[in-house]
Amino acid sequence: MDFIDLKTQYRRIKPSVDARIARVLEHGQYVMGPEVAELEQVLARYCGTKHCVAVSSGTDALLIALMALDVAPGDEVITAPFTFFATAEMIALIGARPVFVDIDPRTWNLDPAKLEAAITPRTRAIMPVSLYGQCADFDAINAIASRHGLPVIEDAAQSFGATYKGRRSNALSLIGATSFFPSKPLGCYGDGGALFTDDDGLAKLMREIRVHGQDRRYHHPRLGLTGRLDSIQAAVLLAKMEIFDDEVAARARVAASYERLIREAFGTDGAVRPPCVEPFNTCVFAQYTVEVDRRDVVETRMKAAGVPTAVHYPVPLHEQPVFAYLDQPVGRFPLSEAAARRVISLPMHPYLTEEQQAKVVAALAEAVRP
Ligand SMILES: Cc1ncc(COP(=O)(O)O)c(C=O)c1O
Repeated sequence: MDFIDLKTQYRRIKPSVDARIARVLEHGQYVMGPEVAELEQVLARYCGTKHCVAVSSGTDALLIALMALDVAPGDEVITAPFTFFATAEMIALIGARPVFVDIDPRTWNLDPAKLEAAITPRTRAIMPVSLYGQCADFDAINAIASRHGLPVIEDAAQSFGATYKGRRSNALSLIGATSFFPSKPLGCYGDGGALFTDDDGLAKLMREIRVHGQDRRYHHPRLGLTGRLDSIQAAVLLAKMEIFDDEVAARARVAASYERLIREAFGTDGAVRPPCVEPFNTCVFAQYTVEVDRRDVVETRMKAAGVPTAVHYPVPLHEQPVFAYLDQPVGRFPLSEAAARRVISLPMHPYLTEEQQAKVVAALAEAVRP
């Protein structure tokens, strides 16, 4: 059993992927070829934003967004400590200070009730993460941000395709930043990412930063980077967009069937807590993550039973060695710390069968036994 099965997906879309890649090889515009512009149109339409800027990774998307907003050394950017490293890494890389706000333990996303207390005169932006494929509570976050005149960047690396109150992830705040890492719900065959905004000025800036900050050839009013998505990756993503809605629906079916199997095996208040999706959200389940006691034991036993699992993420970011200078002691973000100790992700992809899922949950039932 695979944790994520990209081979079955490839067999399904092979004719389209192969033809589209072959076209790139024929026309030879490997960088910023026509596929990139086409993909940007398809993705902007899909998310419902005016602009999409395709970039080289989700990490670079976050960096470019922060650069476009002129976040600078000495500034503070608020995010959650329970996320992938890149979120806070990019804030720190440009010299700003990551300021953490603890999570809502039901959704594992930044808790808006704790947000306002973290805002200081140095706060320059708020960067909530839509973790595991479920959007953070953007109405509440945007309301607080706008009271303080602060821009909001959605770290939507895991949530492309999800909806919040009927609107799509990436279109919920000033800038959305997503990742097309191969294992993401929409993934390419290498690194990739994209930025989304309705703001014409920001879109122009982000396009310039993507190519060394140049506004015309060899003219550089600002610094940037090599942040482009290449044409072959755009071609792959165009092929995958043909089946994306169907795959999102399949992920929802897999998640519903996990939930039913878990309730059958453990009851409603049992040893395994399935994910909680808010009634106003749809989730793309970049991960299907549950909470258990004695996670390390469960992990070992699942491995012995031949069921692959993963932990996203074992260390909250304020406990990462590189962030020791932030001086945020263990105990400061207890809900993130508890989640980091308790979460475990089960195999999740659109091609998982009910039979495989039954095997996963049976192994889980054995693994959580005292
Ligand atoms: C929440 C989050 N932010 C940022 C990233 C960075 O994306 P990438 O791996 O494409 O650089 C990821 C990817 O794993 C992520 O999960």
